Amino acid sequence: MNVCRTTGLTVEQQERWPFLYSHLSSEIEIPSLNAMDEQFIIEMDKEISRILKHIGDGKAKSRESLTRHLKGLLQRRFQRNAKVEAFGSSVTGLSLGTGDLDLCLSFKKEQPKKVLRKVAGLLREEGMMDIQQIPRAKIPIVKFNDSRSGLDVDISIENRLAIHNSKMLKSYAQDKRVREFILMIKYWASRRGINTAYEGTLSSYAWTLMSIQHLQMTNPPVAPNRQSGNKPNLVEINGELYDISNDSSPFDSENKQSLALLLITFFDRFATRWDWNEMVVSIRNGGPLNAEKKRWTHTGPLPLEVVTGQSKNRMEHVMPIEDPFDHEHDLSRIVKAEGAMTIQEEFMRALHLLSEGKSWKEICTPVMEIDEEPEDFFHDLRTQNIDLLKQSLEEMKLEVTQVEEHIQSLVTERQNSKELLDLLRGTLQETRNVKSNRQSILAELRPLSMKVQVLRQTRDGINERIAIPTKRIRQEMVRMFDSLTAEVDVFNTQNLGKEKGDFSYFFELQAMYKASIQSNEVHQEFIRLRREQNKEYKALKKTNSKEEDVLNRLIEKNPELKGINLHPKTVKEFQQNANKLQKSINIQYSKKHEVRREIGRIEAWIRIATSKGKQRSKRDSKPRTTRRQAPAVNINEVRERASTGGSFSLNELDALLSKGGISGIESKDKASTSNQSDRKKSGRKKSTYRVDLRQGRKRGKKQSRK
Ligand code: CTP
Ligand code: MG
Repeated sequence: MNVCRTTGLTVEQQERWPFLYSHLSSEIEIPSLNAMDEQFIIEMDKEISRILKHIGDGKAKSRESLTRHLKGLLQRRFQRNAKVEAFGSSVTGLSLGTGDLDLCLSFKKEQPKKVLRKVAGLLREEGMMDIQQIPRAKIPIVKFNDSRSGLDVDISIENRLAIHNSKMLKSYAQDKRVREFILMIKYWASRRGINTAYEGTLSSYAWTLMSIQHLQMTNPPVAPNRQSGNKPNLVEINGELYDISNDSSPFDSENKQSLALLLITFFDRFATRWDWNEMVVSIRNGGPLNAEKKRWTHTGPLPLEVVTGQSKNRMEHVMPIEDPFDHEHDLSRIVKAEGAMTIQEEFMRALHLLSEGKSWKEICTPVMEIDEEPEDFFHDLRTQNIDLLKQSLEEMKLEVTQVEEHIQSLVTERQNSKELLDLLRGTLQETRNVKSNRQSILAELRPLSMKVQVLRQTRDGINERIAIPTKRIRQEMVRMFDSLTAEVDVFNTQNLGKEKGDFSYFFELQAMYKASIQSNEVHQEFIRLRREQNKEYKALKKTNSKEEDVLNRLIEKNPELKGINLHPKTVKEFQQNANKLQKSINIQYSKKHEVRREIGRIEAWIRIATSKGKQRSKRDSKPRTTRRQAPAVNINEVRERASTGGSFSLNELDALLSKGGISGIESKDKASTSNQSDRKKSGRKKSTYRVDLRQGRKRGKKQSRK
């Protein structure tokens, strides 16, 4: 293996972190971003505003409806005890449209036991995909994917601090420049693959805090410190007190630097000027905290020492970033050595590319394949023959019908399967009742049988010794008594020996009589218990036939149950089958949405193309002097209208798209400020239209979730 003598990095690692490697091996100087060309900054700003128009929360509607759906689901499951709140980028306004949906499930009273498992089970029943439970984390989480919207969702339990910090981030993001700056950092970090906490890089949240820190440190500051000078607002969460005070008032910055310049200084700061050994990112402080004072110095090995195998110890505070409310929480705790190397590499790379005058787009080149929205929405249709397009439109419509039929049959199958499942569960419950009845009878029978046995043995033991029936003993006793107590015939007296014998015989008879009476009593008890035992046996027999009756009755009512083995295992199999069917249904729904979206897009293009054709043919067939001219499209005016949210016709839209699309619209801040309230009204109306275009979705009645 070829290993660098200076750094210890293997060739593979050198290729993986080339910029960092060059610096570590002292091959190149760190470039300075002090004197950037003004024209470059202007161009970069234009590029950024184009990108900003393309990103945004394209999935906002799906998020909203999924949030509503999950809230309903969880609240039905846990009744009034549960509270479901969204947090993270869906509420802060800092979503790139690619982020996950973060929900917090909290409980007003006691938290149900095994809550994570219950939530996961519920999601499974709903047909959610890739469900993962992380129960042992400080904040337990269930992660899953909603295949219908494609959204990744995290449901965390009692993550109340996150609700509060999201509110504060929202206050920071109310400022357009702050929001756009954070979005650009998140955009860069996500495209460069360094915003995945579970893979050992930093979370989007951490990048957001770093962005705010930078904006607080510019001169003059672009962002305020929203936590200083407030009256404390203490909340207790899990026995800890947190000050969640947040000054949410608008902040008017005297700093007028453009986004491009702010981004350049961000990279300059964190790539070269920030000493991670001594400085802790702290937005609550408005600037770095001293790591030593905070006792957050980097005590473990360096990332380089870990990746080169020189140390296997744990890294401590490798890029310390303090949570604004939970001051003991370092957001770099999850950063792994490889992640830290990649983050440093990305800072170095950005620095180099900027110093070489490379575009922002190039700096943000995705490291993995991602679906980019084409700038021109109809780009692939422009060269196609309209008749062929119409033909494929018909085929697609047919496909939608087929998919719908398929969905219907799957839904019916699942419904049947679910009904049978409920039936099975009910049947098992009913037979379970009979079974438990039998168990209690058996529980009584066992000691009874033992008593009967003991009585039988006692009785038989006595009877073995005394073969004569009690009646006969009594008669004999009476006879002997009479004989022993009769008047003495002096002429005929018995001899003494005989008299003694009679007396002992009488005593013998007396003992026998006593034992015989005891035997009789035992026998009576024996008979009584036997009767009781017989009664229990009969009841037991009855339960057997009752179980059979229950089954027969159920099978008679539901012939589907015939031949099914009534066992908990069978119930599990049926449940799995229902889940599988739900998955197939979800796949078919996505397919249907996709085809319908494409139909909408092609239909829109055909309308545009044919209306253009009509105008052209009208123009061609009539003499110039008499024809009614189609209104000429003034592209600048259309752009102006589009940027301010005004309406435009289909051929204006086409013209707009063919001249660089919506991305070509320049920001019209000046015009917009003069008539803000009007713009807001029409902008709201029009923005749906614009979002639709980007998403390529034809808006219509939404399929309700089944
Ligand atoms: N959060 C937190 N502590 C962390 C990570 C996250 O409190 N260590 C909370 C924050 O409230 C944050 C939210 O979780 O706003 C969501 O985090 P994350 O998904 O990283 O940020 P988003 O802004 O939602 O990013 P994305 O759009 O990429 O999902
Ligand atoms: Mg998120």
